[in-house]
Amino acid sequence: MKPRVVIARRVFPAVIERLQTRFDVDANDADEVWPQAQLIQRLQGATGVLITSGERIDAPLLAACPALRAVCSMAVGHDNIDIAACSARGVLVSNAPGVLTETTADFGFALMMAAARRIGEAERFLRRGEWSRWGVDLFAGGDVHGSTLGVLGMGRIGQALARRGALGFGMAVRYHNRSRLPADMEAALGGARWVSLNDLLRQADHLVIVVPYSPSTHHLIGEAELGQMKSTATLTHIARGGVVDDAALAAALREGRIAAAALDVFEGEPAVHADLLALPNVVLTPHMASASAATRLAMAHLAADNLLAALGGPGGGSQAGQPPPTALNAAERVAHGKQVI
Ligand code: GLV
Repeated sequence: MKPRVVIARRVFPAVIERLQTRFDVDANDADEVWPQAQLIQRLQGATGVLITSGERIDAPLLAACPALRAVCSMAVGHDNIDIAACSARGVLVSNAPGVLTETTADFGFALMMAAARRIGEAERFLRRGEWSRWGVDLFAGGDVHGSTLGVLGMGRIGQALARRGALGFGMAVRYHNRSRLPADMEAALGGARWVSLNDLLRQADHLVIVVPYSPSTHHLIGEAELGQMKSTATLTHIARGGVVDDAALAAALREGRIAAAALDVFEGEPAVHADLLALPNVVLTPHMASASAATRLAMAHLAADNLLAALGGPGGGSQAGQPPPTALNAAERVAHGKQVI
């Protein structure tokens, strides 16, 4: 009998077919997150699950699904998974880093430019039929080229943004991260310079937030931080809802304390704070920074690679018998004395 795995969200048929070669697959064909009780019910007897950033994998779920051995996410962010609880039960966790870096950085850059050059605002104006003449300062925004790019969180996506800014747009790059990059990497990013968070906020013309969400980054950007930014600055957020205090941001935008913002992620999404929806100077998109067709397919295949490597058994395709390519807790599971898959 093939092991049973669950695909918790609608994904691509090619990915389902690959998994069906080794597993008995129960796939959610609705494009909706199952309520937690339903997810637990579907996971009964399943040894693996392919998830997105929308499903919550926590200790109560793990306790209710004792057969589970692998949780493989097609997202890079993993704040929805209690990794320590998974490790303690010997459950492998993987995410999908790398494959979405450039696509996500492209989108972050597009959002930053849309905010700086007021593209959303101008397009809505035109569609409303309000454009009657050329105007010398009609939708005059801030320049991107030659300005200072501030990157908060200098992981893979932060570096890809810095490269675009420095090498493509002649921007001076400042960044803040827990750890500083080696000097040769900073040089390869056009001389990117580590600064304190306060200096980043004060110096950036365009701040882009790419720091993962965790209790320590909850509301990392709130009223006090926004208050340090230039009144001409923009803020672009492509990380996770909760890193920015959305109500404080809306107030800063409304009062002209910063010029504009562009947001792809929100606290409590898919709900969006009503104050943000009412403002002209913010570009809003529905959590889609990694959404090129090719990249979303690659993300789903990478999650499948991890499931196959973790559970596929001997002869389970090219991944079986190999370590899961992007496991997050291989060492921790061993440390808990649990059987390694
Ligand atoms: C998307 O937000 C991801 O984490 O991949």
